[in-house]
Amino acid sequence: MPEKVIPIRSSSGGVPQPAPPYDGGPLADTLGRPMRDLRISVTDRCNFRCVYCMPREVFDANYRFLPHEAILSFEEMTRLAGIFVGFGVKKIRLTGGEPLLRKDLPKLVAMLAPLGADLTLTTNGSTLVKHARALKDAGLDRITVSLDSLDEATFRAMNDADFPVAKVLDGIAAAADAGFTQVKINMVVKRGVNDHQVVDAARYWRESGRGSGHILRFIEYMDVGSTNGWRMDEVIPSAEVVRRVSEAFPLEPAEPNYAGEVAERWRYTDGAGEIGVISSVTQAFCRDCNRMRLSTEGSLYTCLFAQQGHDLKALLRGGAGDQDLRDAIAAVWRARGDRYSEIRTAATATLRKVEMSYIGG
Ligand SMILES: C[S@@+](CC[C@H](N)C(=O)[O-])C[C@H]1O[C@@H](n2cnc3c(N)ncnc32)[C@H](O)[C@@H]1O
Ligand code: SF4
Repeated sequence: MPEKVIPIRSSSGGVPQPAPPYDGGPLADTLGRPMRDLRISVTDRCNFRCVYCMPREVFDANYRFLPHEAILSFEEMTRLAGIFVGFGVKKIRLTGGEPLLRKDLPKLVAMLAPLGADLTLTTNGSTLVKHARALKDAGLDRITVSLDSLDEATFRAMNDADFPVAKVLDGIAAAADAGFTQVKINMVVKRGVNDHQVVDAARYWRESGRGSGHILRFIEYMDVGSTNGWRMDEVIPSAEVVRRVSEAFPLEPAEPNYAGEVAERWRYTDGAGEIGVISSVTQAFCRDCNRMRLSTEGSLYTCLFAQQGHDLKALLRGGAGDQDLRDAIAAVWRARGDRYSEIRTAATATLRKVEMSYIGG
């Protein structure tokens, strides 16, 4: 019987062939946005099955993960990353799937560190105790850990892998011990699932954040991919999160750290630190979006909500020189006009978009 495969990976549109030569000038897309941020998905695999990202009933039943030969090698990723940095990329985030499942990840970190971009990692924290020190030694600058609830039953239900809270907290502590300051803690808020935990999480990270500087960030539940059955009424708008937290611990708005910062900052008026809110559903930030995404198998995606990628791997493995790669990447960016979150409707939410675990969150 043929293997059943669901369309979690989009078909790739390829890159424009032949791409017009890149002239070395400033790179801007059709809306004038520069490219500053690169996300590299290093694996499409994960040991969690978060209900909003890789629902078990879909992924375990009929998803075929990428075979090793299909995924980019560290050398291929590093070569491409060097070209992106040449275009003005200032920040590289390693993500996935769960990036720490990729064997020898610190090796990749050590290969990317000399490029000089701000090098960061998003992880579910499940194996950080084992890897934090090696990541720091390899040159990783910053870490973000996802933790959706401090309540045991809620967290286990959300990761759907029966994974305990304490192990993630141990991972965060190990990161701090290894020298990562200001770990960011991501909490996706889904109505009726973990929204009762909003104030508890704020309280916990306010108290344990004092001194460590860890920063809790609440993320609106998004309609990425097509498997999570997203519904608008399950989104808790950031404004509601801020109101709920503020009722318990008064908050005031804080200035962004830099222009175009995705998380909106709110500071506790008693000086106990700050929280961030990421409102990609209720307050789209497409206007400032400067992210390029490189999928696990080497396709470029110009938007988290893309339906199609641009295959770079074929070029890479077909013997392309650096100038060919530059031409191709520049052509993709210059053609970019994505502003999905600004034009989202109930109808667009049901489009067949690429899954976040594949494209890299
Ligand atoms: C796809 S994960 C990959 C990295 C790693 N496995 C982790 O969980 O941190 C990156 C981030 O995307 C978030 N995420 C995944 N699906 C989401 C959704 N539907 N809406 C909002 N955030 C989502 C996760 O909570 C996580 O913080
Ligand atoms: S959010 Fe991260 S940990 Fe959860 S299923 Fe997706 S990739 Fe895995």
